[in-house]
Amino acid sequence: MKAVGVTPNQREVGIIEHSAPELQQDDEVRIRTLDVGICGTDREICTFVYGDPPAGSNYLVLGHEAMGEVVEVGSEVEHLKVGDFVVPSVRRPCSDENCLPCREDLQDFCSTGAYVERGIKECHGFMTESFVERERFLTYVPPELRNLAVLMEPLTIAEKGLAQAWDAQSRLPWVRHHANGKPTGKGLNAVILGAGPIGILGAMTMKAAGFETYVYNRSPLPNPKAEIVEAIGAKYISSNDVAFKDLPDLVGSIDLVYEAIGISSVAFDVLSILGVNGVYIFTGIPAPGDSIPVDANQLMRNVVLGNQAVIGTVNADDASFKAAIKDLAYFKKHWPEAIEAVITRRYPIDSCRELLLDRATGIKNVISFD
Ligand code: BGC
Ligand code: ZN
Repeated sequence: MKAVGVTPNQREVGIIEHSAPELQQDDEVRIRTLDVGICGTDREICTFVYGDPPAGSNYLVLGHEAMGEVVEVGSEVEHLKVGDFVVPSVRRPCSDENCLPCREDLQDFCSTGAYVERGIKECHGFMTESFVERERFLTYVPPELRNLAVLMEPLTIAEKGLAQAWDAQSRLPWVRHHANGKPTGKGLNAVILGAGPIGILGAMTMKAAGFETYVYNRSPLPNPKAEIVEAIGAKYISSNDVAFKDLPDLVGSIDLVYEAIGISSVAFDVLSILGVNGVYIFTGIPAPGDSIPVDANQLMRNVVLGNQAVIGTVNADDASFKAAIKDLAYFKKHWPEAIEAVITRRYPIDSCRELLLDRATGIKNVISFD
């Protein structure tokens, strides 16, 4: 079978031969891969600073943002059937019986670090013609979302981020006591940092949750990302036109920041203007490198005197995948053109090296196996 992989000890990236997987356990499902998204993490793995092959393999099959079609089910598979579309999650639990998160199906909070991640850490990914997965790590996708479902996994990052923000903000009774059982961003301001796929999907999530939503990004206006942002009723602000210090004049008090830029200097600049009682969600994973100066005294004063919550979030749980299905349907209904424009283009597998190694272009590029 053809797969896209990295061979770190030979510093190679490209198409490799990978044996076709077979069902090993009764609760497993075999899936024909349809779409796999390419993201910054994949590109970083291709520079060999991140990611690891499984034990005993000298290569790692890439791909963690996948969707496919069920082609075979084990005898104990309960809900899925042949022909269903599914999206797999990324992280698999560690085996330590004392790891409370992993034992509670919350491996996104794994406390031992011994988790594996498909296509990233010690476990092959989905950038290959077919793969096998246990039913509990798959989310059913309604057929009408077939063409958008490749966006599910990056969307789960925003869903988990927002769920974490609501948990943190339930300390505020006026946020906790919401009318119809669901917290709402109505009357609150959210700033999204960055307009890559994580940022744009984050903006859609916050907008759908009711926030007045602003996307702060470097590219000058006009540009295609800004068009998507404006199409969903959010506002695009270029750092070319507005210095970060002036953002509160435009936005008002910043109640929530969703960081999706991965550049620590910008992230900390914007942390310094977070509003009173605000929540700041970090999602970026900058490569280790030179240290940057920050005004730590001022930051610490703000965090304490402003009752601020600063949260890091990685990966996503099952609830976030369920939430992503709902939101994707909402985006498709309300902003059909905008959500479709997030997928820049589908490419055949032969384009993998350009997509992974050349300068990133567009928003979300996808390798299609269909
Ligand atoms: C993936 C997450 C993963 C993280 C860290 C991200 O690109 O979307 O699922 O946990 O990388 O490896
Ligand atoms: Zn990713």
